[in-house]
Amino acid sequence: MSQLRSVKGMHDILPEETPRWHLLESTYRDLVGLYGYREIRTPVLEPLELFVRGIGEATDIVEKEMYAFEDKGGDRLALRPEGTASVIRAYVQHALHAAEPVSKLYYIGPMFRRERPARGRFRQFYQAGAELIGAAEPAADAEIIDMAVRFLQALGLSDVCVQLSSLGDVESRLAYRGALVERMEKRKEELCGDCVRRLAVNPLRVLDCKVESCRAVADGAPSVMDYLVGDAASHFASLRRYLERFGTPHEVAPRMVRGLDYYTRTIFEIQGRSDALGAQATLVGGGRYDGLVSALGGPATPTIGFAFGLERLLLMLGERAATKGKRAVLVAGVGEGGVERAQDVARALRAVGCRVESGYADASLKSQLKRADRLGAVGVVIAGEDEAARGAVTLRDMRDGSQVELPLSELAARVEAMQ
Ligand code: HAM
Repeated sequence: MSQLRSVKGMHDILPEETPRWHLLESTYRDLVGLYGYREIRTPVLEPLELFVRGIGEATDIVEKEMYAFEDKGGDRLALRPEGTASVIRAYVQHALHAAEPVSKLYYIGPMFRRERPARGRFRQFYQAGAELIGAAEPAADAEIIDMAVRFLQALGLSDVCVQLSSLGDVESRLAYRGALVERMEKRKEELCGDCVRRLAVNPLRVLDCKVESCRAVADGAPSVMDYLVGDAASHFASLRRYLERFGTPHEVAPRMVRGLDYYTRTIFEIQGRSDALGAQATLVGGGRYDGLVSALGGPATPTIGFAFGLERLLLMLGERAATKGKRAVLVAGVGEGGVERAQDVARALRAVGCRVESGYADASLKSQLKRADRLGAVGVVIAGEDEAARGAVTLRDMRDGSQVELPLSELAARVEAMQ
């Protein structure tokens, strides 16, 4: 029969890679835990409407990249392309706002976007995200941005700089949008077909187009900073003061475009500086999205959050994310009743927390020693008939080949010390 393969752009994470994932995930959980974030897990499948309303109809994600379909009951569903809309849906659905004024939620899980696969860009990828719900003040923006930087630092990535911008409030956004449209209308003939359409529905998107001629138009576009007025301007200035106070490395990136329409005011990204990332260098993206809770049927609630792409972090970390787990010992049963004896010893060792391998079929000591070698075992417990009669086993240290006979009662302590 012919072999089946995983879906294009969706990858298996094999056992030799999972320890690096565990390290990343546990570092993340530990860090966000220090700030009081609690985990939320939401389904990967959601009503399609959630993302249309949440992310925005005119975004690439919703227009082109979603895995959306009708199920056998006629419900229109989509695999989640990101976590924020789902978290806010759950927040509203379970009225979490009634329980506490500020909710800090984090998540780690797979997201799905039908993008063109490339280095660092997949159709199923993992995000680690955090959402701070219920705080409007610049101190909240500063804390969560600093938390993202701290996470990278905890992974040993200290050469990072936050790119920061603000979309302003409705008033500043309209003024900026007007200025952009005016400029781009004049150079409309240089824009690609997609951008001509974007100009009418979502002109900011033009700044994000990868087509050479569109980039040339975007390069000379006005800066959003020049249109920032009122509360949004003072919010941004205050955020910057906090970041300076914390020593959080940041710079203003006035042409930043985020790919989701829910953002208001603060937006930010951190780019990785490594050739390993190819063209997909954005490690984390986030921002304020003060209108989403009410757009999804909840009370008006200010919110800010971010999400890291875990594959990109792993690419960036390379071998730095390697971990050393406990090394195994192998229990080798030999002679009559060897498999049973080995299983008994292995169970007893595991019961006290030792990592143990053992076999299921009769095998010679020689072949079991070879297997221990292959597994990289640090020791071999030989459970032979003669030793068993004395209530003992032999422990072989694979590092130097030395062997000692021990009473069974002393085995666990010796194995623990080896691992
Ligand atoms: P995003 O910028 O679309 O934001 O994605 C966040 C991160 O996910 C990116 O910076 C990147 O590292 C990773 N990522 C995105 N697409 C792919 C892909 N196709 N393959 C591999 N990695 C990818 C969001 O998703 C927002 N929900 C972030 C947020 C949370 N904003 C507020 N709260």
